[in-house]
Amino acid sequence: MNCIKYLSLSAVVVLALACTGQKKAGTIGADETVEARVEALLGKMTLAEKIGQMNQVSAGGDVSNYADAIRKGQVGSILNEVDPVKINEFQRLSVEETRLGIPLLVGRDVIHGFHTIFPIPLGLAATFDPALVEEGARIAALEATAQGVRWTFSPMLDIARDPRWGRIAEGSGEDTYLDTRMAEAMVYGYQGRKADTTSMAACVKHFVGYGAAEGGRDYNSTFLTERQLRNFYLPPFEAAIKAGAMTLMTSFNDNDGVPSTGNTFVVKDILRGEWGFDGLVVTDWNSMGEMINHGFGEDRKDVAEKAANAGVDMDMMTYGFLSHLEELVRSGAVKEKTIDNAVRNILRVKIMLGLFEHPYVDVEAAKAVQYAPTHLAAAQKAAEESAILLKNNGILPLKGQSRILVTGPMADAPWDQLGTWCFDGQKEHTITPLKALQERFPGQVTYVPGLRFSREKRDRFDDVVSAARGADVILAFLGEESILSGEAHCLADLNLIGSQSELLAALKATGKPVVATILAGRPLTIERDLPNCDAVLYSFHPGTMGGPALANLLTGEVNPSGKTPITFLRTVGQAPLYYNHNMTGRPYQGETLLADIDLEAGQTSLGNTSYYLDYGAYPLFPFGYGLSYTTFEYSNVSLDKKEYGKEDQIAVSFTLANTGECRGTEVVQVYVRDLVGSLTRPVKELKCFERVELNPGENRIVTLQIPVQELAFWGLDGTKKVETGEFQLWVAGDSASGEPLTFSVK
Ligand code: BGC
Repeated sequence: MNCIKYLSLSAVVVLALACTGQKKAGTIGADETVEARVEALLGKMTLAEKIGQMNQVSAGGDVSNYADAIRKGQVGSILNEVDPVKINEFQRLSVEETRLGIPLLVGRDVIHGFHTIFPIPLGLAATFDPALVEEGARIAALEATAQGVRWTFSPMLDIARDPRWGRIAEGSGEDTYLDTRMAEAMVYGYQGRKADTTSMAACVKHFVGYGAAEGGRDYNSTFLTERQLRNFYLPPFEAAIKAGAMTLMTSFNDNDGVPSTGNTFVVKDILRGEWGFDGLVVTDWNSMGEMINHGFGEDRKDVAEKAANAGVDMDMMTYGFLSHLEELVRSGAVKEKTIDNAVRNILRVKIMLGLFEHPYVDVEAAKAVQYAPTHLAAAQKAAEESAILLKNNGILPLKGQSRILVTGPMADAPWDQLGTWCFDGQKEHTITPLKALQERFPGQVTYVPGLRFSREKRDRFDDVVSAARGADVILAFLGEESILSGEAHCLADLNLIGSQSELLAALKATGKPVVATILAGRPLTIERDLPNCDAVLYSFHPGTMGGPALANLLTGEVNPSGKTPITFLRTVGQAPLYYNHNMTGRPYQGETLLADIDLEAGQTSLGNTSYYLDYGAYPLFPFGYGLSYTTFEYSNVSLDKKEYGKEDQIAVSFTLANTGECRGTEVVQVYVRDLVGSLTRPVKELKCFERVELNPGENRIVTLQIPVQELAFWGLDGTKKVETGEFQLWVAGDSASGEPLTFSVK
């Protein structure tokens, strides 16, 4: 039987559950029937059974490892098992051999695809295409749930302003608005717009501030003020929860001294209190235990108490709840009411996912779902839309060059192009750029890798250089191996690693045109390499179908449309540098650089502003930047009014023209600045974007609507509101272009 049909039949039952009563209770959408089932089950549970639900373990390969614990009702969830046979067996133990028959919640880090791997999340953000991102998440859910995985630890919503941080790869970059749109898209995709057995619970993480790790070193402390949290770091979480995200993960970091897993202010007061979140809160891997390392708790019992009282429901791999909660309840340190609430949150998710009705999967049917042609096609489209053209002196798209040299360590690196956090993608299914180009240009491609892997060091490139002399064009695929970004993989130097810059210089010296395609997990500092490239196409690790996608882009079958979701630095010393920084008292005016300072010049600060003497104030490429093979022009930008009320919509209209020679898509961006506030306000903030596709010569009048409420921020008085006054608004193809219009809010 076809798996999808099988699954959609069963969906009817779950849907009926979700719709009965028509009354939505809480954020994850449980109705009265679900709540009644939760209460009925809770009423039958012993304290030990309740605590068992709050324990999550890593499967560890062999079902027998946890068989006894499951039978005793000591496991509520497992992670890291994807074999459907073993998952069925785990479920059988839980459903058929425990007193209450509560199924397990099976979790996995399905971060950018399950088997079919999509671009890393930073690349997905570069598409500025939430609909496509939703489709990708839906495909990940179809593949993963077919094998019994009903919970993904994604999306990661950590705003990241420092590219040294390896996990920048795993999020949507530096901007709160873009991150928010991507967050909603992923939640809808994973969970499905309608609940059925292909719904995979999303887990928004890492709550909160984890991406602001000092110095870009993973796990490091953060020092975010409440206003920074509320204005920049919390909104994507709040939006994802409004979109129905069923679960949330607390982060590893301590913010201003309080580790998230014991942070009552963010978990209990904001998440539970202000947002009313009634989904499941899980710790990060042993983040409860790590509160001992933080020096925030004496021992496992102490940190278990702190986590439970902060509002954490499930313990991932510390065994703190399992070992100590019973004792803590008996002593009164944790109230049984707190345990009951945690168990409610867990059972609610299990019921909403339909796990009680459908704990098992069809092992044979699951195979047919993996790497389906439609999944591969969507992954290819995502890789195409995620690549950013950063430089082009006209060499791209390729125009019939008959002898092509393919070189570089990422040209044929089937594992590395999949990117970080790829547990289940298999390199045997990857199509590399080399393979795709060889198919596209039979007999015309010469391949000399130059470097076998990105970190390799070499002094001479005689083999590549001699091949280059006989080529019409050189396609160099450079970047980072996948292991150089991701969790715990931070870098202090963001130049192209190994001898890649030297390889580029040697290629350029041949006088042949050099096209660099960079496959990386973060925005690297490529300024020194730009003079050695005639064109640069930047592809964050593009996934399974990266090869055909990049070949399509290089040949012009697809026109690049990706935009930078993060500022590209000139040098790592500029970090953090992000487009929506606050206005300083001395904004940069483009003044004196190092070379212009007289010897023995007297000390003065007069006339000097906020910048570096050696690198100025600007990045290499600003947020939102990306070229196309065509050109776009904006004209007649106008607003429907000069003055708006706080509940109004701002309608901004403009004409977008494709003034070049080929069809292309422009990511139109609208930025706003609040000129005078009760607090210093950012110089610009993204408030809306849209992909607009135009034929050559085509003009289109575009109107975008922005609710005035989008201009609200958390002010000095601790409330969120729109302040009256004057604003500027830009419509442009990146965060550094365009002329502002003004309007006011009264
Ligand atoms: C990561 C989480 C991940 C968890 C489970 C942790 O190390 O920080 O993002 O979901 O492991 O694999």
